[in-house]
Amino acid sequence: MKIAVFAGDGIGPEVTREAVRVLEALDLPGLVLFEGDVGGIAYKRHGHPLPAETLEIARSCDAILFGAVGDPDCDNLERHLRPEQAILGLRKELGLFANLRPAKVFAGLEDASALRPEVASKIDLLIVRELNGDVYFGEKGIRILPDGRRQGWDMMSYAEDEVRRIAHVGFRAAMGRGKKLCSVDKANVLETSQVWRDVMIEVAKDYPEVELSHMYVDNAAMQLVRNPGQFDVVVTGNLFGDILSDQASMCVGSIGLLASASLSDGKMGLYEPIHGSAPDIAGKGLANPMATILSAAMLLRHSLGLEAQAARIEAAVAKTLADGIRGGDLGGSHGTAAIGDAVLERL
Ligand code: NAD
Ligand code: IPM
Ligand code: MN
Repeated sequence: MKIAVFAGDGIGPEVTREAVRVLEALDLPGLVLFEGDVGGIAYKRHGHPLPAETLEIARSCDAILFGAVGDPDCDNLERHLRPEQAILGLRKELGLFANLRPAKVFAGLEDASALRPEVASKIDLLIVRELNGDVYFGEKGIRILPDGRRQGWDMMSYAEDEVRRIAHVGFRAAMGRGKKLCSVDKANVLETSQVWRDVMIEVAKDYPEVELSHMYVDNAAMQLVRNPGQFDVVVTGNLFGDILSDQASMCVGSIGLLASASLSDGKMGLYEPIHGSAPDIAGKGLANPMATILSAAMLLRHSLGLEAQAARIEAAVAKTLADGIRGGDLGGSHGTAAIGDAVLERL
C-alpha cells in the first residue's frame, strides 16, 4: 500500500500533517508513504509546479493524499507555471475524471451552518463533479482585437463520452444511496449543456430505479440554500461543481469539513480537502484539518478497500465535533494540532 503525500502550499502542509498522523495511528501493515513537492513550493525548488519526479512518485503509488496548492507570490507567473497547474495536471495526467464531494451535517453541528438548523439538519448529499473537461481544459488565450482591446477567451465543451462516463459514476452512486440523481446544467443557454442533458437522459435508461431530474445551475445554487435536503446525488460539470461544492460547505458549516475523492477508471485516486491553501491563515496553526482527515478516510475506502478503517476515522471526527471541539472556522478556539490530537484520542 503505497501512498503519495503531496502537502503543497499555505495550510496544505499543516492539515496534511494531521491526516498523516491519523493514517499512521491505524498501524496498517504494509503502508508506506512517499512525499513529493507540488505547487508554489515545487516551482520555487524545481522551477515547475508539477515536477517530473513528483509525477513519477504519483504514478508509482496506489493513491495520493493531497493538501492544497496556491501561493500569492506566484499569481503573476505565466499560467502554465502557476501552482494550481499541479492539481490540474495530476487530475488530467492520471485520468481522475470523477470527483466525489460529499456534504453531510454532523450531529451537533446544525447550529454552525450558515442556514437555519432545521434546514441544515437535512443535508446529506453527494456532488459528483466531472474533473477532466469543461472550460477548465478547453483551448484558451488572450488576444488583441483589431481595435487594440485585450480579450480573454476559454472554450467550454463536453463530448458525449466524457458526459457518459461521469453519468455512470453519478447513477451508480445514486443506486448506493437514495436513488435520486439531479443533473445540474445550463441547457437553456449553453450547447455544452444540451449535449450533457441528452446524455444524462440516455444513460438514465440503464438505471430505471433512479429518479433523474434536471436543474439549471442558477436555480440549483438557490435550492441548495432554500432546501438542501431535497438533494441526494448531484451530477454536474467541472466549473459548476467547483462553485456549488464551496457553497455546499457553508451549508454544512465550514469549508474546513468537506473532503473529496478524485477517481479514475482504475483503483488510483487522489484525495484532498475541497478548500485551498488559505494564505490568510497559513502558518498560524488555525486551519481545520478535518477535511483532510476525512479525505484520508475516503482514500482508505476507495483506493485501498479498507472500509472499516475509513468508518473508524469518520466516527472519530464525528465524535470530536459532537464533543464540542471546533476550530475558529466553526466558531471555536481549537487549533490545527489540537483538533488532530482530539481526533487521534477518539480513534
Ligand atoms: P481557500 O479555500 O484557500 O480559502 C477561502 C477561505 O476559507 C479563506 O478565508 C480561508 O482562510 C478559509 N479556509 C479554507 N480552508 C480552511 C480550513 N481548513 N480551516 C479554516 N479556514 C479555511 O480559497 P481562496 O482563498 O480562494 O484560494 C487560496 C489559494 O488556494 C488560491 O491560490 C487558489 O487557487 C488555491 N486553491 C487551491 C485548491 C486546491 O489545491 N485543490 C482549492 C481551492 C483553492
Ligand atoms: C478545487 C480548486 C481547483 C479547481 C483550483 C485550485 C484549480 O478550486 O479543487 O476546488 O478549480 O478545481
Ligand atoms: Mn474549488
